[in-house]
Amino acid sequence: MKVTTTVLETRQLVRQWKKEGKSIGLVPTMGFLHEGHASLIARARKENDIVVVSDFVNPTQFGPNEDLEAYPRDFERDSALCESLGADLIFHPEPEEMYHDPCAFVSIDTLSETLCGKTRPIHFKGVCTVVSKLFHIAAPDRAYFGQKDAQQLAIIKKMVLDLNFDVEVVGCPIVREEDGLAKSSRNTYLSAEERKAALCLSKAVKKGQELIQAGCSAEDVLAPMRAIIEAEPLSKIDYVSMVDALTMQPVEKVEKDVLVAMAVYIGKTRLIDNFSYEV
Ligand code: PAJ
Repeated sequence: MKVTTTVLETRQLVRQWKKEGKSIGLVPTMGFLHEGHASLIARARKENDIVVVSDFVNPTQFGPNEDLEAYPRDFERDSALCESLGADLIFHPEPEEMYHDPCAFVSIDTLSETLCGKTRPIHFKGVCTVVSKLFHIAAPDRAYFGQKDAQQLAIIKKMVLDLNFDVEVVGCPIVREEDGLAKSSRNTYLSAEERKAALCLSKAVKKGQELIQAGCSAEDVLAPMRAIIEAEPLSKIDYVSMVDALTMQPVEKVEKDVLVAMAVYIGKTRLIDNFSYEV
């Protein structure tokens, strides 16, 4: 497995692979890899000749009071995991390699304005910008994203459609701990007590899935979900919402495919979870 830190070396490798007629699968990550990331890498391994993993804590997607500095990092462990999963290349640039006093950004209207976009107004502009850059650098045939970040996945799909990126965006299911908590690099912030409290998210997801299958309308799905989370003293709801799966705009009835998504603070840690429902 190769490790690159510059755009130039990465491009040179990618160009050579393309010349040899090889297909490229890209898995963009911010590192501190866990089984959720591993599932994306394993899927990319199955579907492409070459697997490129990017490992970059992207500063432009963090707001001024967010956890950019504290975000966990362990490149040695990440690179061992990627190697064991059969990745061909990890691209691990420094922020200075990716950003030189930038003036060009990619942002996407409407879909970025709801859910996480309300609390994190610059977040998706940073995500779309770095993902566009990674698409230009790694020129993937396919790129793999988790449903765990369902709004991010919907936004990237729309960006690819609107801006004619020549890449297939592949969505992969949420990987959970045995007790239901969605795997996340941010779970490492939780104390033992908070870790237990965090189960209210996946419990609410389970409840919501039952209610939506029983034919309930949005409020009748969301109110019992909120009640489960509010019963947990360490939790504070940012949002629990039902939105159209494509536009990310709130819906009251389940008439088209929907996303039911939540962000909840457990102590100081903001966690997200969701489920999709297809009509
Ligand atoms: P990061 O949080 O590291 O996640 C990288 C990818 O792993 C994302 O597509 C995310 O949805 C997926 N993922 C994380 N936890 C998962 C889980 N439990 N199950 C399945 N997939 C999971 O998302 C980002 O980084 C960044 O925003 C990025 C796209 C790399 C741009 O900087």
